[in-house]
Amino acid sequence: MDIKIYDKLAKKYDLATKIVSFGIEEIWRKIFIKHIKKHIKNGVLIDLASATGGMAKLGFDKMYLVEPSSEMIKIMVEKFKKEGFEEEKFEVQFQEKPYIKLKKENKEIIILQSTAEDFEIDEKADLITAFMAFRNFDDIKKASVNIDRHLKEVGYLAVVEMVKSKSILAKLILWYMNNVVPLIAGLMLGMKEEYKMLGKSIDTLKEDDIIENFQNYEIIEKKKLLFPIASMIIMRKNGRKNS
Ligand SMILES: C[S@@+](CC[C@H](N)C(=O)[O-])C[C@H]1O[C@@H](n2cnc3c(N)ncnc32)[C@H](O)[C@@H]1O
Repeated sequence: MDIKIYDKLAKKYDLATKIVSFGIEEIWRKIFIKHIKKHIKNGVLIDLASATGGMAKLGFDKMYLVEPSSEMIKIMVEKFKKEGFEEEKFEVQFQEKPYIKLKKENKEIIILQSTAEDFEIDEKADLITAFMAFRNFDDIKKASVNIDRHLKEVGYLAVVEMVKSKSILAKLILWYMNNVVPLIAGLMLGMKEEYKMLGKSIDTLKEDDIIENFQNYEIIEKKKLLFPIASMIIMRKNGRKNS
């Protein structure tokens, strides 16, 4: 996905998402977090395509947020500072790409400017989350290999994604995303063409396009969220082979 679109959108991302989804995306996030917490309550989290950092609401003690857009990262950092996180200054970096470390009491947030395909972290995660993320990846196979490499042997991968669906309601929502949302985005943000492109990416993925990359994972939850266009899939590594 062209990161420039997200750079341009960053300042208005939260508000725009609320308006065009009628607040439903945040309801999806709440449901997602509730389901994740049934399986894993704390540990090391890696969140992919973090945008403005919404998945930090999971509140794990150590959270790595991976996001390629520098403008999104600026918004994230501002938000966390408002919540009382302080930026930790340090002299040595463990990798070439810059990262930002924020601390508040026993909580640590580390923000990396990178993609799902290329991020490098020198510890493995108990949980990797990808909320509305997969359809943005340029190379899902490469990203999946990288995800697997960064997940502990019994770690969890939790995904919410807009996927293809045959239901009439899903088709209506898709029509809304492709025809009405760009008009709203044009009036509100002057970003009609960008939202047209974002809308197009919604109808590209099937659940299986994600699941097929995680053959030795057990699917422990798979359900549609509120509207049939978004699917939640929670998998555990090294479980029974899924089919
Ligand atoms: C729809 S937003 C994700 C929403 C976010 N996960 C949340 O919790 O609100 C998509 C994000 O994917 C990022 N992105 C684009 N290409 C990416 C890639 N190859 N790897 C990781 N993130 C990517 C964009 O910069 C954008 O911030």
